[in-house]
Amino acid sequence: MLWGGRFKKELDKLALKFSSSLNIDINLFEEDILVNLVHSEMLSNVGLITNEDFKKIKNGLNLILEEYRNGKWKPESEKFEDVHSAIESRLSELIGETAGKLHTGRSRNDQIATDERLWIKKVSSFLENNISNFQKTLIKVADVNINTIMPGYTHLQRAQPVSFAFHLLAYVEMLQRDKKRFNFVKNETNESPLGAGALAGSTLPLDRNYTTKKLGFAEPTRNALDSVSDRDFLLDFLNAVSIGMMHLSRLAEELILWSSSEWNFVQLPEEFTTGSSLMPQKKNPDMAELIRGKAGRTFGNYISLITTIKGLPLSYNRDLQEDKEHVFDSFFTYADSLTIMNKMFEKIEVNTNRFKEELKNSFILSTDLADWLVLNGIAFREAHRIVGELVKFCEENRISFSDLNLEQLKKINQIFTGDALKCLDVETSLQRKQTFGSPNPKLVKEQIEFWKDKLHESV
Ligand code: ARG
Repeated sequence: MLWGGRFKKELDKLALKFSSSLNIDINLFEEDILVNLVHSEMLSNVGLITNEDFKKIKNGLNLILEEYRNGKWKPESEKFEDVHSAIESRLSELIGETAGKLHTGRSRNDQIATDERLWIKKVSSFLENNISNFQKTLIKVADVNINTIMPGYTHLQRAQPVSFAFHLLAYVEMLQRDKKRFNFVKNETNESPLGAGALAGSTLPLDRNYTTKKLGFAEPTRNALDSVSDRDFLLDFLNAVSIGMMHLSRLAEELILWSSSEWNFVQLPEEFTTGSSLMPQKKNPDMAELIRGKAGRTFGNYISLITTIKGLPLSYNRDLQEDKEHVFDSFFTYADSLTIMNKMFEKIEVNTNRFKEELKNSFILSTDLADWLVLNGIAFREAHRIVGELVKFCEENRISFSDLNLEQLKKINQIFTGDALKCLDVETSLQRKQTFGSPNPKLVKEQIEFWKDKLHESV
């Protein structure tokens, strides 16, 4: 027990089970060892423990790390409250009384906050890297689908033609913003709370600058009370994961639509789909559905934690122990979703000609025709009305734009010439797009080159 002197009785068994976070904070094992190593080194630097003590502690901690990594020692959650007490107890088994010097000038309150910050920095970089990998896969698929025409939608109604490459590039943009958020999280997390003690620093001459530097933080936190009660960096992280999952969920939704018989636009790799136990013909997009489904729990994790914190007086309160489950759950959910999405896109099959013919027989080029009229001197509102009339004419006669001849066009309005008919082609439509950021295949190719360069040089 860490507080032996004041207590005669052991913690009630159920109370220990109820309060132990070991099964969850075990994820911070490596960070906790590192913080212990750096703290004890600093203690010896400032003369609070001898160099000999430090060496003993260091060897013990390294041994524990080794035992843990190769499965020789695993702390039991029925015995320990958390990862910190488990490691300290193992250390005293290994090196005896000297282990009792490790916690000099420290509280588990500043210890956990430091562990968590180190972990958040580590996994944020990991996620940034994984997001980049997924972007690279999307760029590869985009590169061979610059001329794969598909309908672009607003209100889930066919609006204007776009290309599959252009559609995927929209997700590359979202993913880039996701990376920026994790970068922000890393910056927000880059201060060391170690040395804040339980809540008010220490009377001992701890060298906070040394531990800050050694742990890779930019600066020490400035207020000890805030240091042990602040979990904003976890909320920022959960928010970044939520938005990232929201993006993946939207893409998952599109995959589900595209792989349906109605769309028949893509085939998902068999390894990431499932059959039905009843209906032999089924190939279900379960992984995409689960990514869409799991997005919800990551939003929930954010709400849970912010709700836990909202009524807490300063500074540390045990409620804060509840922070970790949400954070680990969000991380593992998001990391797996990213990997699965990446693997699905690595092997996706695209029916490149699926929409070419079909779109010819639709009214998806109405805006192009209106733009043609504008270029020939008609005010846009009037152009809109004329094309509307043309759509009505086609519907009444059960024909599509591609069936129209010049005579019919002229009947609607004399201004039409043979040149207008040239607009009525989906490929020409894309080529005629002029604005930066449009699906013009030339511009899309340039965007793809832009991303290749950018992703090559950075994460
Ligand atoms: N397991 C605790 C947590 O995660 C560590 C800090 C405990 N501090 C305390 N004073 N009981 O929050």
